[in-house]
Amino acid sequence: MSTQDYYIQQVQSLNERRAAETGRQPLALVKTFGCQMNAHDSEKIETILSQMGYGKTDAADSADLAIYNTCCVRENAENHLYGNLGLLTHIKKERRDMRIILCGCMTQQGAALEKLLRSYRHVDVILGTYNLRRLPELLYNSLIAGRQIVEIRQSPEGPEQAEEFESKTGCRHFAFKASVNIMYGCGNNCSYCIVPYVRGRERSRSPENILTELRLLAADGVKEVMLLGQNVNSYDAGAQIRFADLLERVCETPGTEQIERIRFMTSHPKDLSGALIAVMRRQPKIARHLHLPLQSGSTRVLTRMNRKYTQEDYLRLIDRIREAMPDITLTTDIIVGFPGETEEDFDATLDVVRRARFAGAFTFLYSKRPGTPAADMDGQVPPAEAGDRFQRLLAVLNPMILAENEKRIGTILRVLPEEINAQGSRPGENCLTGRADNNTIVHFRADKNHLGSFTPVKITGCKTYYLLGEAVD
Ligand code: 5AD
Ligand code: SF4
Repeated sequence: MSTQDYYIQQVQSLNERRAAETGRQPLALVKTFGCQMNAHDSEKIETILSQMGYGKTDAADSADLAIYNTCCVRENAENHLYGNLGLLTHIKKERRDMRIILCGCMTQQGAALEKLLRSYRHVDVILGTYNLRRLPELLYNSLIAGRQIVEIRQSPEGPEQAEEFESKTGCRHFAFKASVNIMYGCGNNCSYCIVPYVRGRERSRSPENILTELRLLAADGVKEVMLLGQNVNSYDAGAQIRFADLLERVCETPGTEQIERIRFMTSHPKDLSGALIAVMRRQPKIARHLHLPLQSGSTRVLTRMNRKYTQEDYLRLIDRIREAMPDITLTTDIIVGFPGETEEDFDATLDVVRRARFAGAFTFLYSKRPGTPAADMDGQVPPAEAGDRFQRLLAVLNPMILAENEKRIGTILRVLPEEINAQGSRPGENCLTGRADNNTIVHFRADKNHLGSFTPVKITGCKTYYLLGEAVD
């Protein structure tokens, strides 16, 4: 038995005893900040919690255990966490046997950890990103000993230890779709980004372990998977296995036939290979969508960001992708107000945005992250100026996204309906919400027994952020 499973059993026995005494099942709250990687770690944490006998709650004041999976990619994610922890102070004063655990990226960031230790003494366990499998053990120790426990490693544990945590796959937000980690950390060192410092150097998970997890998920009813990595295009499992090879294996491995759609993110433009474009073209299971962060359209800013491509490289790349797959949708991330960004640089970003015809974009105001090279760069852009550029960027992006959506009107898209959209439903007629192969959100009229099954949908209208349609029988 793994150490993780041993402590899962120990906590489960404690919880059983406690439930017998109090007459109620202990409840756990899991709150997730940040990206899909964190959301996915939280699913695994929830699986472990349910094995330990915890029920779920969304309310901190009814929780016996509160776990906050933190993010530090931008300052507002951190502030959000501090706000939440402040509220917990009062709850914990009333209920001393409650346990509070922090994990995720903030715990690995020196200044944030110092602040947490100094100002939030009511937190019971602080656990870093490199050894989440130790969560049951630290929780057990905290339940027994009742003193604060801090466990931060400076580097990742080995792949076998990481698999202990990865093997927990039971709890998913949706039964029919799942995320799968294919790599950890990040090896790119973009000058603004804290991720390499808090998630460590890049490590690729072995294809065998990935395929084993996929087979388990397929057997458990999963129809769509999202392969996750900070930069999936630099996946490197040695022995000539790169991301394109992994994707091909994922599409063709026996035992995963039930998985009908494969997504992946995120793609770094500098590493997107011709082989990947070829596999996407060849394999119908791979969704026709690429999330390809631009960050800036100015070559000068891209150089300062250490992105290792130019404006021309990016535009050439998307031309190649579109030539191979004319129906593909492209989405992106853009940072506004990077240190030293001039009006001219910002115009270059607008220019690329106009030419790239993105179908969606996450837009961010640059946030200074202590310890990153960009934090010490000259020319920090005043907030009012950055805010003004941000608004002007949206004014270009939004009509363009709408125009991309309008092109879909009259076509039939294959949608995986995820939930009933209560707002859009009328008496006797349900409105379901899901995503098309090209990742666009679609609201459409259909019977609710379509939920979790791929459904052809005729697109009849659209708004900026979604399409509207009707199921085709
Ligand atoms: N400030 C603003 N946005 C950032 N991102 C990463 N670091 C920062 C930062 N310091 C954005 C990038 C990345 C996305 C996940 O978050 O656009 O692609
Ligand atoms: Fe995800 Fe990065 Fe935020 Fe960590 S810091 S949760 S890796 S976005």
